[in-house]
Amino acid sequence: MSPFLLTRTLPEDATDAALRADVLHGLTRTPKELPPKWFYDARGSELFEEITRLPEYYPTRAEREILIARAPEIAAATEARTLVELGSGSSEKTRHLLDALPELHSYVPVDVSESALTGAAEALLAERPGLNVHALIADFTRGLALPGTPGPRLVAFLGGTVGNLLPAERAAFLRSVRSLLDPGDALLLGTDLVKDEAVLVRAYDDASGVTAAFNKNVLSVIARELGADVDPGDFDHVAVWDPEREWIEMRLRARSALTVKIPELDLAVTFEAGEEMRTEVSAKFRQEGVRTELAAAELELTKWWTDKEGRYALSLSTAR
Ligand code: SAH
Ligand code: AVI
Repeated sequence: MSPFLLTRTLPEDATDAALRADVLHGLTRTPKELPPKWFYDARGSELFEEITRLPEYYPTRAEREILIARAPEIAAATEARTLVELGSGSSEKTRHLLDALPELHSYVPVDVSESALTGAAEALLAERPGLNVHALIADFTRGLALPGTPGPRLVAFLGGTVGNLLPAERAAFLRSVRSLLDPGDALLLGTDLVKDEAVLVRAYDDASGVTAAFNKNVLSVIARELGADVDPGDFDHVAVWDPEREWIEMRLRARSALTVKIPELDLAVTFEAGEEMRTEVSAKFRQEGVRTELAAAELELTKWWTDKEGRYALSLSTAR
């Protein structure tokens, strides 16, 4: 096997069709909304990497701390020969797992962002020429067909990205992950935890405006891909904590009444002054909630580790 394979699991035009469908659906409903996966073109993926280095954005540092401390335990518990990583992005923290897994044969990063996958694979292969990397350009919410690499498999879903799925999407997603696991396989799941509102809001509304640029990047994606005449400067970035649903919501708020024409969809979308469109939820979790959601998908939580400050958790679970 060549050490690097890149497989597109969707037809070339599927991303385009999915973007059109999501924009048409999301911008013609009330309230307006867009799914967060459209943040991640090459620029959006770079902006996310910048976010991970912000002083206010603690999840990446907290998760790295846990991975460094627990990688040997994870390796001993799973004896993984294939590491599958969903929403792998730059694979930067994954290095700690790759280094700890002595029997590792293949790494299978899965992401919608082709630029993130190729960048990550190049960097990893330069450091680890013996590793087999089989990258998949795929939407992890649409059912996955994994390559036939040797087991046991460890499926990692890091960064707290599971919190970007709405509850019903999360339930369906966890069931589909469960269906990928054979006996002896495991799921390593990163979840950001409920904490003080001010800390959370700061993490999603940083002083240097990187998260605002990341949020507005979805408008640039729509402008480029669908010809929308939208000016990101016409919108403000909003991050609010919803205490009932225990999630941060990112929104874009129209600074004045305006119309966005989207010729590719033959659509004109009107915004009232101050109208808000939801672009992302980022759910925060508690241990019992994670255990219950996993159990509903026939997964059993077997380990729960947090960083020293108790801000973030990694859990390991197996098929029941
Ligand atoms: N795991 C990395 C990156 C998190 S950013 C970390 O912990 O730092 C979220 C990643 O998930 C991005 O790389 C984005 O492109 C990817 N992503 C978002 N929605 C996706 C989807 N539906 N299917 C596949 N990848 C997705
Ligand atoms: C990828 N995901 C877990 C990030 C989060 O924290 O929800 C995306 C993000 N949105 C704003 N900042 C970072």
